[in-house]
Amino acid sequence: MNDQTEMHLGGNWIGTPIEDLDTPALLLDRAAADRNLRRMADFFRGRPCQLRPHFKNHKCVTLARRQLAAGSAVGMTCAKLGEAEVLAEHGFTDLLIANQVVGRAKLDRLVQVARRADIKVAVDALSQVEAISRVAAAAGVEIGILIEIDIGMGRCGVPAGQPVLDLAREIVRRPSLRLDGIQAFEGHAVYLDDPQQRAQAVRKSFEPAIESRRLLERHGIDVRMLSGGSSSTYQITGAIEGVDELQAGSYATMDWRYARMLPEFEVALSVLARVISRRGDTAVLDVGLKGAGNEFGLPRIKDSPEAEIPSFVSEEHCIVRNVPDWTVGQAVQLLPSHACTTCNLYRELYVHEAGRIADVWPIEAAGKLT
Ligand SMILES: Cc1ncc(COP(=O)(O)O)c(C=O)c1O
Repeated sequence: MNDQTEMHLGGNWIGTPIEDLDTPALLLDRAAADRNLRRMADFFRGRPCQLRPHFKNHKCVTLARRQLAAGSAVGMTCAKLGEAEVLAEHGFTDLLIANQVVGRAKLDRLVQVARRADIKVAVDALSQVEAISRVAAAAGVEIGILIEIDIGMGRCGVPAGQPVLDLAREIVRRPSLRLDGIQAFEGHAVYLDDPQQRAQAVRKSFEPAIESRRLLERHGIDVRMLSGGSSSTYQITGAIEGVDELQAGSYATMDWRYARMLPEFEVALSVLARVISRRGDTAVLDVGLKGAGNEFGLPRIKDSPEAEIPSFVSEEHCIVRNVPDWTVGQAVQLLPSHACTTCNLYRELYVHEAGRIADVWPIEAAGKLT
């Protein structure tokens, strides 16, 4: 074993050419990611609506810190309680779980997070309001509450209007809860490719959420925040009067699916794979379903538009046709269609600059499903 190998086994890859990494590995182009963070922060600078970056995209604490440092951000959004726990452990103090936190085990964990951070959760059921109030009061903590409104996605959320007011009245009279406002996510409009259609759908979807906000305010209930939005709707949702926070996630790393809609952001994330077999114009890579999220389409080969992945059904293999002059052992970069599910599969993010590994960032919340 030479010095170089020992160094790698010890985990110190700094300075190594990308192609020497063991594969599959998750790569992040640091300069591209930094430009993405800056671009988004610049858009929100000086606006009434501020950013609350969605941690679910990358689940990496270092990247989350850089998102806040880039500016125009009020705190972090999480999809899961486990993500909020990780961020709270690492000193993040303003957290929103943009989801329902349900079940005794989770509520016990929620109050622990509330001891360390200002934590807010979405609710859409009175029984849940009662349950959170009970555990929070017993633990002597306060939990921030956002009433989730279904604005067309058909996922979670109460209907707009009177049901929001009814639930708000229940929240404000219960102990240990602080009604912070409203959550509304336009998930049904996020992947509309046509920008005009998307803008129209988003604006229409938010009307009932804004009206609900005004309804609460007319009844003397303060709405400190209306939170929603995504990477592909930041310019639309982020400019709607009455929306206070934008929960964009994917803009940080990007993937090819979002790149189609957001040319101003760069695909900074890729999966490094290696050719393990080659026959004629067909090569096989050492990564499959277990190494690249593909809900929005098959991965693409970076910088080789002619290479084609005909299907992606193996756990650990990827067949590529029409390959250029690849040889067995050669490293190639795959661009996944979905960054969020890809990051969840890895424990480290290999950060590169000028073709070499510049840093290795842990993905602390990878695999946190609870
Ligand atoms: C509640 C919520 N907010 C925001 C987002 C937006 O994230 P992204 O910018 O990655 O699309 C999502 C995506 O699924 C979401 O579920």
